[in-house]
Amino acid sequence: MSNAYTWVQWNKHKKVYDVLLAVSVVGYLAVFIGVSSLTWTGDHAVSPMTLMIRATGTCAILMLHLILMMGPLARLWPIGFAPLLYNRRHFGVTMFFVALTHSVLVLIWYGAFGSVNPVSAMLTMNTRYGSFIGFPFELFGIAAIVILFFMAATSHDFWLKNLSPRWWKTLHMGVYFAYVLLILHVALGAIQGERSVAYPVVLGAGAIVLITLHLFTAVKELRCDARVDVAGTADDGWVDVASVDEIPMDRAKVVTPAKGCTKVAVFRHGDGLSAVANVCSHQGGPIGEGKVIDGCITCPWHGYQYLPHNGQSPPPYTEKIPTYELRVEGKRVLLNPEPFAPGSQVDPVKIGEQSDV
Ligand code: HEM
Ligand code: HEM
Ligand code: FES
Repeated sequence: MSNAYTWVQWNKHKKVYDVLLAVSVVGYLAVFIGVSSLTWTGDHAVSPMTLMIRATGTCAILMLHLILMMGPLARLWPIGFAPLLYNRRHFGVTMFFVALTHSVLVLIWYGAFGSVNPVSAMLTMNTRYGSFIGFPFELFGIAAIVILFFMAATSHDFWLKNLSPRWWKTLHMGVYFAYVLLILHVALGAIQGERSVAYPVVLGAGAIVLITLHLFTAVKELRCDARVDVAGTADDGWVDVASVDEIPMDRAKVVTPAKGCTKVAVFRHGDGLSAVANVCSHQGGPIGEGKVIDGCITCPWHGYQYLPHNGQSPPPYTEKIPTYELRVEGKRVLLNPEPFAPGSQVDPVKIGEQSDV
């Protein structure tokens, strides 16, 4: 979290993840090169360098699709897919390095044997700028790798803090632009190189899956935001959240107490209940989809933690989120929809004891 600058914030879980990621990338490249050398023979035989260019290019574009699917999948099915988000950053950086390898190999292979520098050679190889189908598709790749470079270079939490989450997130939305550029790069490259129709077919299918997932997610989010989902409102304005039995141990029930209100996550932990705003101070992750680990509410996106009784990250960290007051009447849990300032102490309400609020 925001305590001190560390080059890479690794923990045991992330190390295992990174090893698996590296093994998967190397495995993909090996299978691609192995299968292609066996199938592309005779007139279709290609050089080992071209094979590497194709292997790294297709690996990068596949990884890009997987990255863009993680957000919507985690919003649609948090229990199964939220853990994917936890390490998306490492996935993104790895994808950047695979794409960079592809780009460097292309520059070496197509540009390094003349008297001009490789980048100029690449830019002057095809100058059909007026044509759509004949347009130099390499330019789209270059623009995309520049965007991905900025994303990789600013990926650290240090930049997140300095740019502010809002600007940082805006910068990272550039990935969608990079995606469009890369679709053009690969599709035009395949057409100009008279490659297999598998390229446009697979790319089109990938884009349809991505767009469908994003649309479903947008519709789900809009529906949830518009719905006030409490069982009722008491005379003093407190809202009826749920029955105690509906909230699983170490998990939360998330409610929207009134139209336009921030969502609130009511957690059950130990023998009590605590309520905090459902918005993580890191990047607005849905805290209520996380769970209580080692006594701390843990955000499902990147693992930021908060103490249930005051919404503060455990020392030495300094993040804070708003807290809320609860009371229990019989089996029903009631919430005061007015938030306290971030980091305010509110003792957990004990289950089984009638509150005297
Ligand atoms: C400096 C940036 C880039 C340049 C100059 C570049 C250039 C090229 C070139 C010349 C080819 C054709 C290779 C061949 O003849 O087989 C190619 C293909 C390809 N590129 Fe790039 N590229 C760049 C960046 C990227 C990036 C960032 C990605 C993916 C994220 C990518 C994905 C692909 C794919 C999938 C192919 C098709 C492979 C094939 O032809 O079988 N490229 N690129
Ligand atoms: C190149 C290195 C990259 C780094 C270091 C990086 C890092 C991050 C980080 C830390 C976040 C914050 C949320 C999270 O981690 O879950 C983020 C957001 C995001 N990243 Fe990346 N990313 C990179 C590349 C990419 C690429 C290539 C894509 C997709 C093709 C991508 C797609 C996104 C999207 C869509 C979001 C925000 C959307 C949401 O919250 O669901 N990123 N990125
Ligand atoms: S830890 Fe990143 S959004 Fe919560």
